[in-house]
Amino acid sequence: MARKGIILAGGAGSRLHPLTTAVSKQLLPIYDKPMIYYPLSALMLAGVREIAVITTPDDQAAFRKLLGTGARFGVDFRFIVQPRPEGLAQAYLLAEDFLAGAPSVMVLGDNLFFGQGFEAVLGRAGARDQGATVFGYEVQDPTRYGVVSFDETGLVEDIEEKPAAPKSRFAVTGLYFYDGRASRFAKELAPSPRGELEITDLNRRYLHERALHVELLERGFAWLDTGTFDSLIEAGEFVRTIEHRQGLKIGCVEEIAFRRGWIDAAALRAAAGDNPNNPYSAYLLDVADGRASAGRPTDS
Ligand code: G1P
Repeated sequence: MARKGIILAGGAGSRLHPLTTAVSKQLLPIYDKPMIYYPLSALMLAGVREIAVITTPDDQAAFRKLLGTGARFGVDFRFIVQPRPEGLAQAYLLAEDFLAGAPSVMVLGDNLFFGQGFEAVLGRAGARDQGATVFGYEVQDPTRYGVVSFDETGLVEDIEEKPAAPKSRFAVTGLYFYDGRASRFAKELAPSPRGELEITDLNRRYLHERALHVELLERGFAWLDTGTFDSLIEAGEFVRTIEHRQGLKIGCVEEIAFRRGWIDAAALRAAAGDNPNNPYSAYLLDVADGRASAGRPTDS
């Protein structure tokens, strides 16, 4: 069964008020694209083409306007409402019918991944039909995140949500691969003391089954979250710096669809619209005409 994707883009974004009073956090700009393009690009790089977009009831219309059916990106979107934000694992209750027992990958709508070798790591995680895979990333302040720790042989020892005394510096990123049991396991979870179905508890369930894999995203790789005023602008500056230097875009979903053969050059030109004065459109035309490279000419 093909792996399906979930982008969780709900939440009140209260840490970013007043920016998010009238606009969903995941629609805020990260330099030249709406935030959700970055996690969407991660799912597309994982080869996933059937994607549920989970939003608040109020924000769904704006996401539909931005993303459409998915045909422009060679994917198929299903829009699902999260009536109240009751935890990340709730996504697996809301998406149960959509998943219909398929393996899945969920990404949080405010997470940005960028770096050499990312597709290979995604490929390894996607190839595992059994169990779950999460991604560890060394951070300065692990107390803000889920934290995974290892025993002396390198096996996963524990995974804890926002521990006051973290056992390691490895944060668990907002990207999760699960086998077809995730919705069933999510239904068995009890709400945490803060009243939420915690994704960390779902991961702990897989850990207890000895079915939790951890891939480390090594130094040099960029995992950015965008939940504070500072991290929001830092992510934008990061994207701008790399894009200016290389003339290649990060998180350009139309480009990924084209390079994967999911849309053709005519569709890419159509996505550019008729406004070549817009640098994003101009870039799509460069890609369609082979002016923006993705490697040596011999690479596929
Ligand atoms: C959530 C998860 C946490 C994870 C983080 C990644 O935290 O609960 O385990 O490390 O996303 O972005 P939140 O951002 O909702 O506080």
